[in-house]
Amino acid sequence: MRKFEQFRSIVAASATAAFLALPLPLDAQGTRESPLSSARASQFADSVLRLMTLEEKLGQLNQLPGGGQQISANDRQALRAGRVGSFLNVFGADFTRELQRIAVTETRLKIPLLFAHDVIHGFRTIFPVPLAEAASFDSARAEFSARQSAIEATAHGLMWTFAPMVDIARDPRWGRIVEGAGEDPYLGTVMSAARVRGFQGGDNAVGLGAPDAMLATVKHFAAYGAAEGGRDYNTVELSERTLWETYMPPYEAAIRAGVATVMASFNEIGGTPSHASDWLLGDVLRKRWGFNGLVVSDWGAISELVPHHVADGLGEAGILGLRAGVDFDMSDHVYVDSMAVAANAGRVPVALIDSAVKHVLRVKYLLGLFTDPYKFSDAGREKLYTLAPGHLGAARVAAREGIVLLKNSNKTLPLRRDLRSIALIGPLANDSASSMGSWAADGHASEASTVLAGIRAALGSSTRIISARGAPVDTVDTTGFAQARSAASEADAVVLVIGERADMSGEASSRASIELPGAQRDLALAVIRAARASPGGDTKPVVVVLMNGRPLTIPELAASAPAILETWFLGTEHGLAVADVLFGDYNPGGKLPVTFPRATGQIPIYYNHRNTGRPADSANHYTSKYLDLPWTPLFPFGYGLSYTTFAYSNLRLSSSTIRTGDSVTVSVEVRNTGDRTGDEVVQLYTRDNVASVEEPIKELKGARRVTLQPGETRTVTFKLDPDAFALYDRDMRRVIEPGTFTIFAGTNSDDVTSVPLQVTGDTLVLAPSTPRMR
Ligand code: BGC
Repeated sequence: MRKFEQFRSIVAASATAAFLALPLPLDAQGTRESPLSSARASQFADSVLRLMTLEEKLGQLNQLPGGGQQISANDRQALRAGRVGSFLNVFGADFTRELQRIAVTETRLKIPLLFAHDVIHGFRTIFPVPLAEAASFDSARAEFSARQSAIEATAHGLMWTFAPMVDIARDPRWGRIVEGAGEDPYLGTVMSAARVRGFQGGDNAVGLGAPDAMLATVKHFAAYGAAEGGRDYNTVELSERTLWETYMPPYEAAIRAGVATVMASFNEIGGTPSHASDWLLGDVLRKRWGFNGLVVSDWGAISELVPHHVADGLGEAGILGLRAGVDFDMSDHVYVDSMAVAANAGRVPVALIDSAVKHVLRVKYLLGLFTDPYKFSDAGREKLYTLAPGHLGAARVAAREGIVLLKNSNKTLPLRRDLRSIALIGPLANDSASSMGSWAADGHASEASTVLAGIRAALGSSTRIISARGAPVDTVDTTGFAQARSAASEADAVVLVIGERADMSGEASSRASIELPGAQRDLALAVIRAARASPGGDTKPVVVVLMNGRPLTIPELAASAPAILETWFLGTEHGLAVADVLFGDYNPGGKLPVTFPRATGQIPIYYNHRNTGRPADSANHYTSKYLDLPWTPLFPFGYGLSYTTFAYSNLRLSSSTIRTGDSVTVSVEVRNTGDRTGDEVVQLYTRDNVASVEEPIKELKGARRVTLQPGETRTVTFKLDPDAFALYDRDMRRVIEPGTFTIFAGTNSDDVTSVPLQVTGDTLVLAPSTPRMR
């Protein structure tokens, strides 16, 4: 008997054996209906559940961490005893096959395992960090990166990623801003849905079951990005209005796109930690949004209900987690160790455990693991897809698209190729680990290109590269300044690669000040001065290449550096993509997905704020501003330049008056007025001029990246659906109110043209009040 058929024979005795291991019904394969709602998957899960002991059920809710190609001896024993439902952080076709073999041949019920990993921006081929990918404003590109990442990761035995992270972040001190799409709910929503489709192989979960599609996880639910003071894991203090207007949309978009799993967040909101919130995981997620998939805890977060002071021990923490609706216990052992006692004592209904187990069994069924538990562990595919040329090519395109040109006075960029020498200065110029970014899965730093490697590849041997580190990244040491200054004086051009190392953003990597760390600002200013003072210095190109996982405050550089490129962390192809832009093989067209403040003290600063009763006015002292700083940002949301220029004209609507509930089409003409082909991200914003509640001064409602030839004019058209005009009223109903709106189009959130739109008719209710927070 084939190994897996043993499973069939055990369960064949049950009355529901007919449902075993059948392929997904047609309705779930070929139509828009989500397999997550499949009745067949439910019946199958029920049939297995009937055979399970309480211990086996709790085993299915237990997710244990491994490390690459190993797990501990204890965990191996736990696996054999049926006490493990999933491993995270193990991968490799052979290793996952070995563990799967134990699960499906040596455990009593032979239920296959799920293998999960944080495939955040690539698995082995590393794509740009999500913040950089958001800067492309190209959701099709983000979807493609996720698709390619899934193809590579699944070939290594993985079938579940803890991505996309869609937490809106208005505070760049928070290190995890690098993992999301920035500050804007619209951009966050579009990127969220795109990444879910990419990982899961299509919309609405219909791709799940294919050997190259993986379960996506939308995280961290909810509002993890609103940590007070930008300090990771910190308390979140939010109004219900801001929660629903700003933070909820990207999570909801993932659910609408069919995301199979949701991860609860470490934080509390209004006194209730997410892992204990049946309001969040029940009323909102399951009831309001109709989510049918699986909820996983964050790492150790069930036991953290104890330090949150809502549980007086692990037993109570587990009960709270189950009651709230957390199905899977990541790395905590709380369910597997403590919930049998609680259930036997009647402190937690077995029905709750059953419901969690059903969610787990359903996704295992949907992936087709009961038919072929080894489908993801395929050494042939692993070899074929690891760092496949197509993946590297896609990573390079994505990397180029994420680069944002912040400044380019006197056409400093692109650089000429016939330079005799380039001074390459800065601690990050040859730091391949930083090229990779903050969450590089199985990426190998040795496979990532640095700016040094990129420039070498672009120029060959006729240009001399004079390298000088200048200063370390984050300690104040100026002993390398002299060498850096002399390199800058000597060379024909200067490229300064400065910013943050990759480990200075990401989890638990918040910074109290978002200035350039260490002595790098002074290094840059010294180098710029030295270049200027050298022979031919007034025309010597000096380019600052920033690498960082968050906005940095760089007012002095913005004033004195001739050219600045924001390159974030672009992954395996970082250096090659930067060189493409430095020498003009690619014309940068990315835009900032987050506001760049002038100083840390301006935080929070974001474009879609409310007006206040006293909006800033330099002529009036008693208005909302600072004594010691302008109120405006250094670079606004949506900002980014190009080697060419664009002009906007003829913004118009299909109708200047619509009724509540109607759509309207907006068109604007964009012309490439320069002499190079280039990309422009055409942005569409709206404002509700007078409403029953105070609305943001501007909200992004559309963005389209277009490529225009020199002299070409394109009419870019957006359809604004009714929801584009909706708001949460005072009763938190989603409504469209009649009134005047302003429609803006332009090149960034600050530089726009506008037309008015009149909305007539009665107030229209699109959705009832949000469930009251409790
Ligand atoms: C992070 C999650 C991640 C998990 C597993 C946690 O510490 O908050 O985002 O998915 O670890 O690695």
